[in-house]
Amino acid sequence: MSKDRSWTRREFNAAGLALGAAAIAGASGLASAQQARGGRDEKAILKVGLIGCGGRGTGAAAQALAADPNAVLWSMGDLYSERLVPCLNRVTDSLREHADEPDTAVRHQIRVDPDRLHSGFANAERVINSGVDVILLAEPPGFRPAHLRMAVESGKHVFCEKPVAVDGPGVRSVLESARIAKEKGLSLMSGFCWRYQDQLRETFQQLHEGGVGDIRAIQTTYNTTGWVRPRARQGGWSDAEFMTRNWHYFHPLSGDHIVEQAVHAIDWQAWAMRDAPPERCWAVGGRQTRAAVPETGNVYDHFSVTYEYAGGVRAYHMCRHWENTPSDNSALIMGSEGVCTVQPWQQRHTIEGAKPWRGSARSNDMYQREHDVLFKSIRENAAHNDGAFMARSTLLAIMGRMAAYTGQTVTWDQALNSSEDLHATPWAFGERAIPGVAQPGRTPLT
Ligand SMILES: NC(=O)c1ccc[n+]([C@@H]2O[C@H](COP(=O)([O-])OP(=O)(O)OC[C@H]3O[C@@H](n4cnc5c(N)ncnc54)[C@H](O)[C@@H]3O)[C@@H](O)[C@H]2O)c1
Repeated sequence: MSKDRSWTRREFNAAGLALGAAAIAGASGLASAQQARGGRDEKAILKVGLIGCGGRGTGAAAQALAADPNAVLWSMGDLYSERLVPCLNRVTDSLREHADEPDTAVRHQIRVDPDRLHSGFANAERVINSGVDVILLAEPPGFRPAHLRMAVESGKHVFCEKPVAVDGPGVRSVLESARIAKEKGLSLMSGFCWRYQDQLRETFQQLHEGGVGDIRAIQTTYNTTGWVRPRARQGGWSDAEFMTRNWHYFHPLSGDHIVEQAVHAIDWQAWAMRDAPPERCWAVGGRQTRAAVPETGNVYDHFSVTYEYAGGVRAYHMCRHWENTPSDNSALIMGSEGVCTVQPWQQRHTIEGAKPWRGSARSNDMYQREHDVLFKSIRENAAHNDGAFMARSTLLAIMGRMAAYTGQTVTWDQALNSSEDLHATPWAFGERAIPGVAQPGRTPLT
């Protein structure tokens, strides 16, 4: 059976979709739609298309609907059709749980029609061309630059999860997409959610106002005990299916864990440095503990990177996936007049030194804030554009991976202008080269 397809109405209903009647009725129009939707404004609807219906996509769709009472879920896409309906049901449950008038909210805001559920590699294009106003990108990051480009070229506002690319060509594409979005007055919201968390905003403002004097060194960590469980290859899975079902474990799809996950901590480094790029970096990394089975792919399980900025400022990043070891996701920012400790999970942010300080902001739902800001910017016709910083923070992580994989010192310009295009071969279900584990000193820097 071809995976590249749309859903039929019969399949949609057969999937046991609890809200099928409401969704289909909503899409095909009721005699008195306005009345059925509790007087909500039909003219004000913003149609939302979701691409990537996993954990984050489900959350992002729910947050989009919560951000604006006239945001409606219109179309959904995923590489795998079985991800669509469970996601739609979870988004609906969330809306029901949080809305003041749950039935009205579901009737008004869930408008997914079976004709607008898409799977296969063409899903993104079909969602983008389904008449939506806003696109939510929550697919594996390897696909994101191409999807983002399609979305902005088609005039859509975008919520773009992090990281935004996995290689230099992808970052360059994202920078160009950000430029196109700006030119067209489209909003482009990034999924670097910590930038929308009030306690971190307060802390980084303190740093930017000289809280530690001149920054001399930064240490960030993203040490955890593991990742999503890899899936053994099933009979009948092509190379492409095997890799996309284990996308975290193949660096062309995830960027490796330094890009896919630890980029959050690397983004704090970028934020502290006001998004100025470093000059170069060097790194070590490897796979010390990953099981030697095909489904753990080619990604490393630890990285340690040293970034060098102008004036000799250094930033040190460590991330690892090792079972039975302590987790840590924090930052230490050392300056000429003090030291700032950033501990988001403990909600403790302090500066010790000439100007002692302790953060006092309340915590907030940073994921919801991103969508609140995005939809407000669309409503007010005041385009919001995170393009430049989201591309730079992603490139910081990519250059760290490049340095670790090759063993070479990598400059910012080398990373940005890299010709290593991990998606040069178009994706299709079938045979595909499975990448091997990089070996420093042997893997070339390109
Ligand atoms: N900002 C955050 O804190 C945060 C948290 C979690 C995840 N994320 C990001 O969200 C993204 C998705 O992560 P997740 O945890 O939801 O992963 P997931 O595996 O749960 O979901 C990814 C979905 O994308 C689908 N997919 C694969 N290839 C696709 C394609 N070509 N087109 C459309 N869909 C495709 C998969 O089938 C899957 O359903 C990642 O980039 C991740 O870094 C961000």
